[in-house]
Amino acid sequence: MSSTNKSLLDAATEKIVESQVWRSIFRHGYPDTPLNQSLVMMSNVFLHLHPVKVSRQAMKITYTWCMGGISFFLFLLLTITGVFLMFYYVPDTTVAYQNINQLSSAVSFGHLVRNMHRWAAHLMVVSVTLHMIRVFYHGAYKPPREFNWVVGVLLFFVTLFLSFTGYLLPWDQIAIWAITVGTNLAPYTPLLGNPVYKVLVGGGAVGQATLIRFYVGHVILLPLAGAILMAVHFWRIRKDGGEAGPPPPSRRELEARAEREQTVSGARG
Ligand code: HEM
Repeated sequence: MSSTNKSLLDAATEKIVESQVWRSIFRHGYPDTPLNQSLVMMSNVFLHLHPVKVSRQAMKITYTWCMGGISFFLFLLLTITGVFLMFYYVPDTTVAYQNINQLSSAVSFGHLVRNMHRWAAHLMVVSVTLHMIRVFYHGAYKPPREFNWVVGVLLFFVTLFLSFTGYLLPWDQIAIWAITVGTNLAPYTPLLGNPVYKVLVGGGAVGQATLIRFYVGHVILLPLAGAILMAVHFWRIRKDGGEAGPPPPSRRELEARAEREQTVSGARG
């Protein structure tokens, strides 16, 4: 009985696997040979985001701390919650503060989404910083990943500017004075100081022109720059052969390992 069932099952499986529909989707055999594994990785839209081979060590959560992945997750969360906030927020100095207050008190889930946006923003600054420290600690900035390190530095600045520009938007006292202090640092930059201050603030002091500048930067320019840089960052990780794993064992370690193995096999007999 069971052998008839099995053969029926086998026949059905064979029919499905050999059908045109199946073969048009799965173009290569079961990935149990190195060649088929490579072909499957390269011809699948999701899998091809990864290199054909990755270092098993570098995949461990204890190795990367997943800080890059967490930063990306937070960026997506910030984008979604940010779009929600955009439905209620108007970048006008006369109404911005009330908008934010009403959002927290009169809009369904408004308080929750606003706080999700705030917390995710703080956490992203922390996670990107920890990711940068992890990459530095593992020496993963060395060739061939030096270009991706530079892309990472740009992403770090984009993250900080997103945080800085977002801080002004509630237009409360702490925001106005924090941005006044922050932008007042700009004129002290040699040569470019005053022009940079004017571009940032849009006049002689923090006001409506500053709010609209920071708003456009916060909701369009910086997220767009971040998304483009992240696409380049991820593409480069793939092209550089995935994450850099730990360095190969030294000759001394290999010799010690071989000696240990010899001792064990000698003891066995
Ligand atoms: C928005 C910010 C960022 C995101 C979303 C991001 C995302 C990622 C992800 C997902 C990885 C894969 C490995 C891992 O998770 O650790 C990675 C690797 C890498 N990141 Fe970032 N990253 C960001 C910022 C940075 C910064 C600030 C730097 C350095 C200045 C940097 C440099 C690198 C380098 C060199 C690698 C390759 C590491 C390796 O091969 O082990 N990234 N990034």
